[in-house]
Amino acid sequence: MAEKTFYVTTPIYYPSDRLHIGHAYTTVAADAIARYKELRGYDTMFLTGSDEHGQKIERKADEAGKEPQNYVDEIVATFIDLWDRLGIDYDQFIRTTDNNHEEVVQEIFKQLYEQEDIYLGKYEGWYCTPCETFWLDRQLEGDEKVCPDCNRPLEWVEEESYFFKMSKYADRLLKHIKDNPKFIQPESRRNEMISFIESGLDDLSVSRTTFDWGIEVPVDTDHVIYVWIDALSNYITAMGYKRDEAKFNKYWPADIHIVGKDILRFHTIIWPIILMALDLPLPDQVFGHGWLLSDTGKMSKSRGNVVDPIELINDFGRDSIRYYLLREVSFGTDGIYSTEALIQRINSDLANDLGNLLHRSLSMVEKYFSGKIPEPSEETEYDSSLKEVGAETVEKAAEEIEELRYTRALEEIWQFVRRANKYIDQTEPWILAREEENRERLGTVLYNLLESLRMIGILLKSFLVDTPGEIGKQLGIQAEVKNANWDDLAWGGLPAGRTVEKGDPIFPRIDLEEYYEEKEELTDVDDKQEEEKVEEEGLISFGEFQEVDLRIATIIAAEKIEDSNKLLKLQVDLGDERRQIVAGIANYYQPEDLIDKQIIMVANLEPAKIFGVESQGMLLAARDEENEELTIISPAKSIKTGSSVS
Ligand code: MSP
Repeated sequence: MAEKTFYVTTPIYYPSDRLHIGHAYTTVAADAIARYKELRGYDTMFLTGSDEHGQKIERKADEAGKEPQNYVDEIVATFIDLWDRLGIDYDQFIRTTDNNHEEVVQEIFKQLYEQEDIYLGKYEGWYCTPCETFWLDRQLEGDEKVCPDCNRPLEWVEEESYFFKMSKYADRLLKHIKDNPKFIQPESRRNEMISFIESGLDDLSVSRTTFDWGIEVPVDTDHVIYVWIDALSNYITAMGYKRDEAKFNKYWPADIHIVGKDILRFHTIIWPIILMALDLPLPDQVFGHGWLLSDTGKMSKSRGNVVDPIELINDFGRDSIRYYLLREVSFGTDGIYSTEALIQRINSDLANDLGNLLHRSLSMVEKYFSGKIPEPSEETEYDSSLKEVGAETVEKAAEEIEELRYTRALEEIWQFVRRANKYIDQTEPWILAREEENRERLGTVLYNLLESLRMIGILLKSFLVDTPGEIGKQLGIQAEVKNANWDDLAWGGLPAGRTVEKGDPIFPRIDLEEYYEEKEELTDVDDKQEEEKVEEEGLISFGEFQEVDLRIATIIAAEKIEDSNKLLKLQVDLGDERRQIVAGIANYYQPEDLIDKQIIMVANLEPAKIFGVESQGMLLAARDEENEELTIISPAKSIKTGSSVS
């Protein structure tokens, strides 16, 4: 019989910054289904990776003064470190700068070009640089040209570009989506995608000439392949497409692509159409989950509201974070991260319900049976009811996990945990322990408790990394829990006679106030150090400020510097002399628009050579990090060239 395989992917992340808890959310969710399928005996392939090309990354690298490759190498290393710390058990990590990926993407492009699905054309229109998305007039609301996705200002661009004939495949795609209700999940998002396709698909621009950091178009070296053909193809290049037929046939089509709702459209429209054009089968499902927001809105570095997963892992442990992410927000809808809610979950579900169950049960086995797991004997009503809840939990948890309803799956498991706690109250082992004649009954009760814990430990293997092993260890069956799969969830698998190893409570309670106090102390220390630093080196005297010779200059000529996307060479009039300066503003200003513009210039800056061109000063400009906008600072009204600024 052919082996059962299961292939799941996360999106590949942009290495433009460190990852935040929202990214961890997607990856933990993919990890959970992969772990579950593994338990069910599938040969699982879990792919994650990094999406490393594009203008945004090129710019960031430039700003950091690094070569793009070095820049992405450093950031991608932080991704891998985060996944290790979170216990993400991926099978393969693809980087779009991998040679194999780059080569196969070129072959894909070439094939599409040769079969005339890709053609050379020209586009003009509104472009959002941060989102790397091109918008048509009809997609924009009102007169203000801002990106419908991120609300940032758009730039007007005109460029030669290769286009992909999306419209040719629209009807086929629509039929596929309608015939396969599970293809796009959740349901509400599926309807959104159907309306989008029905409103008409435009051909897609798939190349750029405005930056270099990308895979070269194989039929035209002036162009690089634009984000989506490069990025989306990762799901097949990583599986050996056009290289390793056996591997490719084994895993493709993917069982599920898990993506955030913001990129669902790319995965349910562009990606299936690319696959159709390549004559490949489509993935079984694309699941678009919601956003994990901070209580001050969408997480973004410039807003300063990103939650750092590493800090949370250090403070609370990875299993607490994983539990919280999967339990708190139903997968599909948006949810809000809050530290209070996290601590509450840790205290009530993990420390109280689960931790206490384990600790109490083991304490009794130590006390009444010298730490040896007793043999069970005759069953009473309480016992069969506990067993029944156990069996039902296994079934219901499976149903919920299969549909990625992790919140509900964990609720089911916790009903079993609470039921076992209640069983202690019902059977009152401490009373049974008083009479020798109840010894058998006491043994059965404790066996049943430990057996429930064994099952809970195995059920949690889909979600948590360390806890199942720790439960196993304390029960004296570490290897059994480690090697267990779903079939071991049948009642009675616990070997009597083993010696338990009660340890510390698996989840200590956290005092919210103490936690904040400690954090504040740490932040106070940081703030103090910061203040001292400002005192030492942060402030300048008025005299020091006066040493900077700021003057009004007028631009009289401007041109691009060859081989640089960013730099312009300006000739400026300073009143009594002319100067040449190099400015990194080519992405924001056309040379011809700068003529006669007045600027503020640092006139006494040591000359320097930039890109081989002499620069005798510097102009002042302001950068809006959030919108990635830059504006030159000019006087509010025209003033005599050469005037000093103070
Ligand atoms: N590189 C593209 C994906 C290409 S896939 C062929 C990309 N990268 S990303 O780094 O910007 O985002 C990766 C994923 O993280 C997306 O699915 C996005 O939805 C998800 N998230 C980013 N912030 C998030 C939250 N705050 N909450 C939940 N998911 C979030 O898009």
